[in-house]
Amino acid sequence: MAKKPRIVIIGAGMAGLTAANKLYTSTGSRDMFELFVVEGGNRIGGRINTSEFCGDRIELGATWIHGIGGSPVHQIAEKTNALESDQPWECMDGFPDEHKTIAEGGFELNASLVDPVSTLFKNLMDFAQRKVAEESVVADARWCSRNGGFRGGNKSLGAYLRRGLDAYWDSRKDFEELGGYGEWSRKLLEEAVFAMLENTQRTYTSAGDLFDLDFEAESEYRMFPGEEITISKGYLSIIKYLASVLPPDVIQLGRRANRIEWQPQGHHHQQQQVDDSRPVKIHFFDGSFMLADHVIVTVSLGVLKAGTCRDSGMLFSPPLPSYKTDAISRLGYGVVNKLFLQLSPNGNKKPEFPSLQMVFHPSESELRHKKIPWWIRRTASLSPIYNNSSVLLSWFAGKEAVELETLSNEEIINVVSATVSSLLSKPHKETKSENGSNGFCNGNESEVRFVKVLKTRWGSDPLFLGSYSYVTVGSSGADFDTMAEPLPKPPTGVHRPLQILFAGEATHRTHYSTTHGAYFSGLREANRLLQHYHCVEV
Ligand SMILES: Cc1cc2nc3c(=O)[nH]c(=O)nc-3n(C[C@H](O)[C@H](O)[C@H](O)COP(=O)(O)OP(=O)(O)OC[C@H]3O[C@@H](n4cnc5c(N)ncnc54)[C@H](O)[C@@H]3O)c2cc1C
Ligand SMILES: *[C@@H]1O[C@H](CO)[C@@H](O)[C@H](O)[C@H]1NC(C)=O
Ligand SMILES: *[C@@H]1O[C@H](CO)[C@@H](O)[C@H](O)[C@H]1NC(C)=O
Ligand SMILES: *[C@@H]1O[C@H](CO)[C@@H](O)[C@H](O)[C@H]1NC(C)=O
Ligand SMILES: *[C@@H]1O[C@H](CO)[C@@H](O)[C@H](O)[C@H]1NC(C)=O
Ligand SMILES: *[C@@H]1O[C@H](CO)[C@@H](O)[C@H](O)[C@H]1NC(C)=O
Ligand SMILES: *[C@@H]1O[C@H](CO)[C@@H](O)[C@H](O)[C@H]1NC(C)=O
Ligand SMILES: *[C@@H]1O[C@H](CO)[C@@H](O)[C@H](O)[C@H]1NC(C)=O
Repeated sequence: MAKKPRIVIIGAGMAGLTAANKLYTSTGSRDMFELFVVEGGNRIGGRINTSEFCGDRIELGATWIHGIGGSPVHQIAEKTNALESDQPWECMDGFPDEHKTIAEGGFELNASLVDPVSTLFKNLMDFAQRKVAEESVVADARWCSRNGGFRGGNKSLGAYLRRGLDAYWDSRKDFEELGGYGEWSRKLLEEAVFAMLENTQRTYTSAGDLFDLDFEAESEYRMFPGEEITISKGYLSIIKYLASVLPPDVIQLGRRANRIEWQPQGHHHQQQQVDDSRPVKIHFFDGSFMLADHVIVTVSLGVLKAGTCRDSGMLFSPPLPSYKTDAISRLGYGVVNKLFLQLSPNGNKKPEFPSLQMVFHPSESELRHKKIPWWIRRTASLSPIYNNSSVLLSWFAGKEAVELETLSNEEIINVVSATVSSLLSKPHKETKSENGSNGFCNGNESEVRFVKVLKTRWGSDPLFLGSYSYVTVGSSGADFDTMAEPLPKPPTGVHRPLQILFAGEATHRTHYSTTHGAYFSGLREANRLLQHYHCVEV
């Protein structure tokens, strides 16, 4: 009897486990394959990592279901009752609907100032993402994409947004009458609020710099309709559900691959001693290896970038063809980190920290507060993870997120305390004491103090090397399709097709960067193999 085809999936994240689940549960395929999932870390989930902080359930990685309408993640969450919990969880109240927006110097900004800028920003983004019909879009957005065009040659979202802001300013000349706040002129404040919104967009996209993010690609990205929610029992419950059908010996933890040998021509050039009936050989860091007929590679784009660059060791042998490595190096992959801070208990009172939006002076300003360093100045908000929680959360992106990974807890506490004190104290009263008095209870001596810190380190973790992918200027959605192409490319290797398949969020053209994108990519590659073996459904 012929040997069963052996399929090895590299990575036990959303993509890998979805593929394994599909291959194992599809009608007629249960006994068709020998199936393994090899995972470099000592847990399953990958960029999904539910944890706990001060008694609350939190997410260190994926946090939101981005639109519940039609989301496969939402369907699993419902089916497994993962949307109900007695324990409090991150963002159980959804997005905060009330913010305090405070500018450096301690000026709380009126809605009459913030709202028009927020509306402008939202309209510009809706237009860029084609969420709205063109007729209903503000003139500003049309102006900058059409008339202004990209004559400047800069096709980034960042450049588009700034052209939109300029157009908005050109359309009104009333800054002088409107007046400013303290040392802030009206125009400078509007720019700083706009910059705060740009910084939120940096965390959504993981683009460290919006001037690096391709404008055209924004229109290809798809969101599901409906509410965005977090998962009460934790994102990991989705992962556990997918893994639950697999026999215990399928998933092997602590097996980090360091070289994948494959046969571009479908056969060995020289006679080798290896079992020629399985064309792929996976080498692990511990010196062991595994032969396979098919490998589904689901490692992050960051791991692929490092694994295809000559300085940091080649993951593939022979190297991937250049059209693949070009796509890998063109696409963007940024670092986004989350910072959790616990407020020190304030007697028996429930903490009442606001959902704080932070507006900082632009970079060249002399008015910048000395105690607020660069790495916190592009962070847009600091908010309780639900109403009255004593746990606050901030998101970091880009080089600020990279810097965060290197800082001690003590330094983080000092800087966030100084920042909050400076923002929440009354205008023009410098912080009174070195240890930061003047809390959020305006004027009273109740201090904002933090007792515990937890930060993520997605950038430096060798199994991830970043957070999620985006389309850079110079890349395009087509590069995601190239990422997804299996090897060897037909017609070469016709005798040994589908040796290396690629799944993972960075292989999905319209849902990249998300858990459901990873899910769809895992299904896609499982189906590719099922079809190849005439197993069934598509
Ligand atoms: C901070 C943060 C917030 C996010 N927020 C959201 C959100 O709100 N909503 C959303 O939809 N998405 C979010 N995402 C993105 C989402 O988490 C990812 O898109 C998705 O989980 C990726 O799944 P994947 O299977 O493609 O990759 P991964 O989860 O990275 O899985 C790949 C696996 O491969 C393993 N691996 C790596 N190298 C090797 C090797 N050499 N050998 C063996 N194994 C290896 C890794 O350990 C990992 O387990 C967020 C991500 C981060 C980091
Ligand atoms: C995942 O969470 C656990 C704690 O819950 C933590 O020890 C581990 O470092 C986390 N891993 C990543 C990659 O965030
Ligand atoms: C803020 O709003 C209040 C009333 O809503 C108004 O009295 C005040 O003048 C506004 N301040 C500025 C600086 O616009
Ligand atoms: C776009 O403009 C910004 C700011 O001027 C610049 O930093 C960036 O490099 C430009 N990008 C391209 C692709 O020209
Ligand atoms: C939060 O605290 C405020 C003030 O103490 C209170 O009015 C509100 O009901 C609290 N909300 C929750 C969800 O506990
Ligand atoms: C939390 O507070 C917001 C308003 O600040 C309110 O709309 C929401 O219902 C509250 N949630 C709970 C669970 O109390
Ligand atoms: C810090 O605060 C404590 C208690 O509020 C106070 O006793 C101490 O003097 C303060 N330290 C400094 C350096 O101001
Ligand atoms: C300050 O504290 C005093 C006494 O604790 C209280 O009566 C007062 O209302 C507080 N003021 C503010 C602005 O919170």
